[in-house]
Amino acid sequence: MSTRRNRTRRYLVKGGTALHGHVRVSGAKNQALAAMCASLLTDDYLVLENVPDISDVESLGELLETIGATVERLSPSTLRISGKGANVFEAPTELITENRASFQIMGPLLARHGFASSAPPGGDVIGQRPIDVHLSGFEAMGAAIGRDGERYVLTRACGERLHGARLFLDYPSVSGTQNVMMAAVLAEGSTTLVNAATEPEVQELARLLNLMGARISGIGTQILHIEGVPELHGATARIMPDRIEAGTWAIAAVMTGGDLEIEDAPSEVMDAVVNKLRATGALIEEREGGLRVAAQGTPRAVNFQALPYPGVATDLHAPLAALLTQAEGVSIVHERVFDNRMLYVGELRKLGAEIVSTSSSAVITGPTKLNGAHVRALDVRAGAAVLLAALVAKGHTVIDEIYHLDRGYERLDHKLRSLGVEIERS
Ligand code: UD1
Repeated sequence: MSTRRNRTRRYLVKGGTALHGHVRVSGAKNQALAAMCASLLTDDYLVLENVPDISDVESLGELLETIGATVERLSPSTLRISGKGANVFEAPTELITENRASFQIMGPLLARHGFASSAPPGGDVIGQRPIDVHLSGFEAMGAAIGRDGERYVLTRACGERLHGARLFLDYPSVSGTQNVMMAAVLAEGSTTLVNAATEPEVQELARLLNLMGARISGIGTQILHIEGVPELHGATARIMPDRIEAGTWAIAAVMTGGDLEIEDAPSEVMDAVVNKLRATGALIEEREGGLRVAAQGTPRAVNFQALPYPGVATDLHAPLAALLTQAEGVSIVHERVFDNRMLYVGELRKLGAEIVSTSSSAVITGPTKLNGAHVRALDVRAGAAVLLAALVAKGHTVIDEIYHLDRGYERLDHKLRSLGVEIERS
């Protein structure tokens, strides 16, 4: 795989087009990234279908290759990965800091090879993003945690395998649950994770691991039981559609006064956002294999809190806030997951939005006429929020730093163009 991160790219978007038609949701970023890390748990091939073509997948693929794994693209959306050659257990800092998910190579490397070293992970600057849940889990299973400068050095303290343990996670961290789960599947004895994350992507990772020979039960609950096994084998699995991308399209339909058929929208894991969009007055119909979302006049203001699953996803906080700038009335928004999710506020204000915010709350008054301006995509979801706002703004909007959008949305400009939007990438 080769990387295509380019930090100078921008979008020029002409506002005023209501989105009508049909759009297909790509595979889920967060599930694909975790599944790629799981490939390090076996020497066999792991074949992943419906993998989105996004830069986070590319950079993690590059990281896996750097540590000795083989990553092949069998088709535009199919990856075949073998962890067989993995023999470099010190992750290069420039790749580990590309995205947060990459730290999830640590659990598999530690469990299989007894050693792993990495700088703290990168990702969006949406808060302090500690890794204590990951580290305390590894430690409880028998790992020694050392530091070498900024790097964390994990070593299996004794024996051939980690040992099972009963763990209480201080916070139901998504990547923390996944990392510890991937270490526990190869541990000796049984592990219980209490206060585990229940996000659909965590559930899908557990199902994939079971397909590879792991013994995980309690999937979808906050208490996971894992019976360790000596080894895993290869598997073929399909990545679920991305509920965040689907939610972004649903919001776009309502916001632009449009009517969209969202193919592959995983409605069974989208209750919170569907419920909020219905509360704004939108028409949402569950269809075979997707959703139809249609605006019904000016949306109404709604309040929401971003929470762990099954609450409103924090990744849809900024896009929903963009919609609420077009809703009649005052909306109050609270962020309850990350401590720096409000970066989008200043950018939406540049377009004319009426928002006042604290570090974790916003009060949005609408509907406001937005005007094209020069803005930045400050993280992947803040980028989605400004793009949504640009779709309804008068005139042209320039969005800089769209590499953030490239991290999480596959061929976004192509999809928008197919719905009639004038958008150029330069
Ligand atoms: C994952 C998703 C991200 C999503 C987030 C929450 C990936 C690659 N990214 O991020 O898109 O927004 O879940 O649904 O899957 N925390 C701790 N200790 C830890 C780890 C996290 O206190 O060891 C806290 C964080 O500070 C934050 C909260 O947990 O406040 C959520 O973080 P976490 O669930 O770990 O998110 P990520 O896995 O980083």
